[in-house]
Amino acid sequence: MVKYIGVNDRKIDLFEGQFVVPEGVSYNSYLILDEKIAVMDTVDINFKDEFLANLEKALDGRKPDYLIVDHMEPDHSASIKALVDKYPNIEIVGNQTTFKMINQFFPGFTFKQVLVKEGDKLSLGKHNLSFIFAPMVHWPEVMMTYDSYDKCLYSADAFGKFGALDFDDPEGWACEARRYYFGIVGKFGVNVQNLFKKLPSIDLEIIRPLHGPVLTAPLDEYIRLYDIWSKYEPEADAVTIAYTSVYGNTRNAVNLLKDNITKDYDMFDLARDDFHEAIEGAFENKYLVLATTTYCSGIFPKMLDFLHALKERGYQNRTIAIIENGSWAPQAKKLIVEFIINNFKNIRIIEKTITIKSALTEENKKEIIELASELNK
Ligand code: FEO
Repeated sequence: MVKYIGVNDRKIDLFEGQFVVPEGVSYNSYLILDEKIAVMDTVDINFKDEFLANLEKALDGRKPDYLIVDHMEPDHSASIKALVDKYPNIEIVGNQTTFKMINQFFPGFTFKQVLVKEGDKLSLGKHNLSFIFAPMVHWPEVMMTYDSYDKCLYSADAFGKFGALDFDDPEGWACEARRYYFGIVGKFGVNVQNLFKKLPSIDLEIIRPLHGPVLTAPLDEYIRLYDIWSKYEPEADAVTIAYTSVYGNTRNAVNLLKDNITKDYDMFDLARDDFHEAIEGAFENKYLVLATTTYCSGIFPKMLDFLHALKERGYQNRTIAIIENGSWAPQAKKLIVEFIINNFKNIRIIEKTITIKSALTEENKKEIIELASELNK
């Protein structure tokens, strides 16, 4: 039997100190009750008391034998010591890097340990666990635990999403899972692909990530999306417009553009909209339009931040159009092209770029409508 013992965090201001999570986030933990009992990860330190109370209730008088630590980031590991303080005979199951990190996060902490290697097995009775190492999905110590009895993969951060479990997300799973993926795991596409090479050998009906809902069969759509995302392929033949505008003239340009786009589009004001939604949009769609101004002889700061965020996440395989605005000595277009060439892979830059000098001219309007036609193809 498996019981949920995790928590919903609706108090958090910023996840990982940077992601807005208006509907909170869950830190998932499970209790596998068999002849032996295993706790699957813990929760953020602010919820340790709630977690321990959930655990005690689920144990119903029994004691846990193992704590499986699939991921050492503190949103899942910070309550490890409190758990061991309460149940000192529990054995922590992890790999070499797990234990190194436990020593770093909890200096001087002593505990019983079971060191596992890739593919090692641990039987709880009917539930037979095996350990699949998934380094850099999202930290180096990450491993996933497969329970062959339930055909369940405890997938660490992979397949997680923002949003507390008491939030019935009207957008479904993909939207906030995608923002989570490209915000947090996006840099590690190769590592996710390495994981996928191991998955076909296991019979899978359930995925229990550390954040967000349990995913149940058919799992094909979740796996299809993760495969696309981790290969850096566009998911949709659609357009993302990312812009900055100091006095509204560049905004006028992108408004005219969007009004003439006939396919799906997203548009983000990089100074005002959720930055990570914009990153998500850049990865989701095939086309990216960058519209910005020259500022202090460089690229406007919010746009430069955006370009760096894409670079950090391995941005590639897209078509980019550029609209620049500069009242004197415009530089943004030239600098963005250089940035793209030096930092992104396999990008087609739409040859016809648009330079606005302060406000839109009739010629600029014509160019923007032509750009829309090119994006609509
Ligand atoms: Fe949810 Fe990488 O921690």
